[in-house]
Amino acid sequence: MSSALATFIVLAISLLLIVILSQRQKTKYTSNDPALCRQIIAGVLKHEDQPNILSPHQAKAMANRHLPIAFGIDNSFTQTDSIHASMFVQKVKPLINLSAKQWQGVSEFARVMTNHWIEHGFSGVDRSGGSSCHEGNHDSNMIRVDRNRINIASLAQILSLKVVLCLFFKQRPQDQACDENLLSLAQSINRVWISSKLKSAENDIPRFEDDVLLQTSLANIFGKHDLPEDNPLNLILPSFETMWRIVLRAFLEVRFATGKEVREWRDTMVAFAENPTKLQFEAGAVSPSSNEPRISDTQCVQISPSAKQIVLESLRLYVPTRHVHRAYQWDQAMGTSHEIKSADIEGCHLRSDIWGSDAEIFNPNRWSILTPAQGDAFMPFGCPPFECPAKPTFGPRMIGVLVGSLLAVLEDKEQAKPWNLDCEDTSVLEHLTSGKRLCPHRNAYTDLYLVRSME
Ligand code: HEM
Repeated sequence: MSSALATFIVLAISLLLIVILSQRQKTKYTSNDPALCRQIIAGVLKHEDQPNILSPHQAKAMANRHLPIAFGIDNSFTQTDSIHASMFVQKVKPLINLSAKQWQGVSEFARVMTNHWIEHGFSGVDRSGGSSCHEGNHDSNMIRVDRNRINIASLAQILSLKVVLCLFFKQRPQDQACDENLLSLAQSINRVWISSKLKSAENDIPRFEDDVLLQTSLANIFGKHDLPEDNPLNLILPSFETMWRIVLRAFLEVRFATGKEVREWRDTMVAFAENPTKLQFEAGAVSPSSNEPRISDTQCVQISPSAKQIVLESLRLYVPTRHVHRAYQWDQAMGTSHEIKSADIEGCHLRSDIWGSDAEIFNPNRWSILTPAQGDAFMPFGCPPFECPAKPTFGPRMIGVLVGSLLAVLEDKEQAKPWNLDCEDTSVLEHLTSGKRLCPHRNAYTDLYLVRSME
């Protein structure tokens, strides 16, 4: 073989290797150090004094590259240029800026809907005889719900989705899709979310255009859309996806787990749902009978935590966005290859050196005094420059409204007959009452039911 040919072959193989390697995403680096997490999220963490050559928006969009593929979306989570990304955030802001009247209205709506589901089950879902509202839209995973047995995860999902439709898509309650379509969409989103997250190779990510079930449930509710920028999921993913999981866990904690014997927590949440104002959100109920430990109790009167403190503690223990990922590239020689760095937000929220030895325990009282280190480590809504626009008001208060509404309706119904929890897997029920932190996994409570006592 001539030396020229040998050189050519070596060069060709090297080039091929570079191309193959450059397509790969390098192993993940994760940190639960709050200061490092803030740098990772901002896209400015250095590597051997080298800055990230990707812009903060590129770093974010590249780490979220599975989202446009799996959900067909085009929003501030996927856009690489800052102008478009900020336009989306600006579009969201007025939607989540609710007047006092709107807060009252949405809270009433949440209670009326929850009351309806608890009384009648989900329309179109009971296959035993109820009529399906949409022919040909049958999901084999659809949970059968009847009047005496209601799936709790579905309840949290449908409630969160209804509110999102009402507020962000201006769909009047009477014009909204039937429960079966809403639950089908919720389940499709969950399914695709899980399967797209697990894939590291681009070709393995499920494709939006191939997902008939997701497409159909979306079209049944919103009609067809042509462009990714018009995809209703642009708004649904950041709002519904985070909301239903935190609402579910906060409800379980307050009603059936740590809060089971703490009447005041329930009362506080119900009072807030009935009067969803800033003042009520921050008001703690005076409860001379409470046995709860207090951190800042200088007098003998026991003050139970406010709805805000209960919500913040739920967000700490069950942060919906457990990790925030960013892409990093140190020099051009890396080709298109990049590293993914992850801010372990859940890890920051559970560090015992920051939160104390009871870091894994649900204790809303801890919010009466917060150390600077705790304030720094608490990032359920991310951090600058990508902080969630729902952080100051909408997010925490809406969680309070939805949890309070669920508790209020159940309370009301219980005057006639009590509701208990049921699950085929009894270890789920045992864990719930063990005082330990609830399971954070997405599908942990999909088989948990509220069951009406027959006595
Ligand atoms: C429980 C409620 C919510 C939680 C826990 C939450 C959490 C977060 C987090 C962690 C981020 C930062 C993501 C990142 O840096 O990659 C974020 C960003 C964002 N969230 Fe939320 N969110 C919630 C509710 C909402 C709602 C109701 C909306 C309304 C549509 C919304 C819209 C957005 C938008 C547009 C961004 C991007 C901000 C930017 O790129 O600058 N979120 N959210």
